[in-house]
Amino acid sequence: MDFKIAVLPGDGIGPEISKQGVDVMSAVCRRFDHTVTYRYALCGAAAIDAVGDPFPEETYEICKWADAVLFSAVGHPKFDNDPNAKVRPEQGLLAMRKKLGLFANIRPVETFSCLIHKSPLKTELVDGADFICIRELTGGMYFGEKYQDDFKAYDTNLYTRPEIERILRVAYQYAQQRRKHLTVVDKANVLASSRLWRKVAQEIAPEYPDVTTDYMYVDNAAMRMIQEPKFFDVMVTENTFGDILTDEGSVISGSMGLLPSASTGESTPVFEPIHGSWPQAAGKHIANPLAQILSVAMLFEYFGMKREGECIRKAVNDSLEAGIRTPDIQTQGLPAYTTEQVGEWIAQRIEQ
Ligand code: IPM
Ligand code: MN
Repeated sequence: MDFKIAVLPGDGIGPEISKQGVDVMSAVCRRFDHTVTYRYALCGAAAIDAVGDPFPEETYEICKWADAVLFSAVGHPKFDNDPNAKVRPEQGLLAMRKKLGLFANIRPVETFSCLIHKSPLKTELVDGADFICIRELTGGMYFGEKYQDDFKAYDTNLYTRPEIERILRVAYQYAQQRRKHLTVVDKANVLASSRLWRKVAQEIAPEYPDVTTDYMYVDNAAMRMIQEPKFFDVMVTENTFGDILTDEGSVISGSMGLLPSASTGESTPVFEPIHGSWPQAAGKHIANPLAQILSVAMLFEYFGMKREGECIRKAVNDSLEAGIRTPDIQTQGLPAYTTEQVGEWIAQRIEQ
């Protein structure tokens, strides 16, 4: 294939891990006879500083030109501590999701056997845990009507039937390809929006008789993920709950630096690590590039290229086994490698 890729490195550690993702993508293309053209674009704080807009029109045009977007991270502390800031880096990410219609965010939670000891949970609970969280990404409180004055403020958790139905269908399709178990996570005992989710889910469940559907309140799901992560196969939930639960999920595997994600929908899909921009680490060469590299694997898999994806996953596993690891996942007493050393090792491995 002749790939057109939009690269959005963003802020903080974004540019460092972005480079590793791009180098791995290029290595896979050389090995499997694909060609690839990259176009770089600004987003987040970097774009605010340059042109005053966290998702400039030109970036949007480049995303639409591309077959896929390789996104890294946005966010900067100078905005976090300023509740009056009119424009924030995160708005760039949200604008990208909305404008590209990326309603389905696929976040797999997998474990690596050689890193199990890094998980704060007991080995027997975590070993073999493997589930996917499907997070609705363009609705709910993130995008509903907002109001704020100095006395009162609100965010509206608005969902419509078509929005709920389309994300549920994505989740059912994933469940059908996996262990055929779908957990619909909501707060239907309190929230009207959740009661509509549950109603729509109960209506369409009979169309997927091969899948077992269960319903779980989000508070209970948060607990169950820690007590028995192996219970889950595919979970589907609204935007805000999915944001929170996937950070929790990332801890299961031992480091936030390990988990990739794919956002898909109506237009160009986006592949990105689930972690943020970790500004304190920027320029220190300690960021783990694996989540970014594994999002390149998800990119190839999205285009049906299983061998390419598998080749990246194998090289990542080999790097872990060989102890070529950044500090967050290195075994105590062993020297840690830099972001660039890990990325280069994996890219070379792919071409061997
Ligand atoms: C994520 C991030 C974003 C979100 C932020 C940066 C806006 O936390 O992708 O999970 O809340 O969706
Ligand atoms: Mn998040």
